[in-house]
Amino acid sequence: MKFDEIIMTRRTIRRFKQFPLSLDFLKKLVNAARLAPSGANLQPLEYIIVNEKEICEKIFSALKWAGYIKPEWKPDESERPVAYIIILARRGVSPFCDIDAGLSAENMMLLAWSYGIGSCMLGNIDRKKIKEILNVPDNYDVHSVIALGFPAEKSVVEEMEDSVEYWRDENGVMHVPKRKLEDVLHVNGF
Ligand SMILES: Cc1cc2nc3c(=O)[nH]c(=O)nc-3n(C[C@H](O)[C@H](O)[C@H](O)COP(=O)(O)O)c2cc1C
Repeated sequence: MKFDEIIMTRRTIRRFKQFPLSLDFLKKLVNAARLAPSGANLQPLEYIIVNEKEICEKIFSALKWAGYIKPEWKPDESERPVAYIIILARRGVSPFCDIDAGLSAENMMLLAWSYGIGSCMLGNIDRKKIKEILNVPDNYDVHSVIALGFPAEKSVVEEMEDSVEYWRDENGVMHVPKRKLEDVLHVNGF
């Protein structure tokens, strides 16, 4: 895939085939995160890779999935993420943690997708529980979680009409409305 195709076709994936991801591959993603831009180059972020099944199950219990899908939905046991990368922020180091985390997350998700690996960034998470499960020291905040695995679902972009809510069709394909280019773009002034 060319780089622009990687960007255009990356979609959030929430259902995964149960093939493992190697530790080397997951480290490659964290390396891409490490090299992302960082406000004032303060680099407040650290990462925990989780790929052991038992710990993956515990992390899964701290996550909320696809809030717009009703009734409440979560991936079935046979399609849960096979690995996670937890983004941690060292407290008191930088006022730019949110921005840095977004940039590092996108580096990881785009690199993963370039290898055909799907991902979902999760911010609707039980941070206290995740801290306990992973023994995260007090002076670190759990920022967000990246769920990973081989995709077991399809997701497509559609032109947004009047709602931002993604939805699943009768074939299980996720449709993600995005605002049109002309609705978000201003040239040489508003
Ligand atoms: C900061 C952030 C937090 C998110 N939190 C969650 C979450 O807790 N659960 C979830 O299922 N998806 C979550 N998502 C995924 C978004 O729902 C998804 O990116 C959005 O619907 C657009 O779809 P796309 O990634 O396919 O373009 C999050 C995304 C971002 C950027």
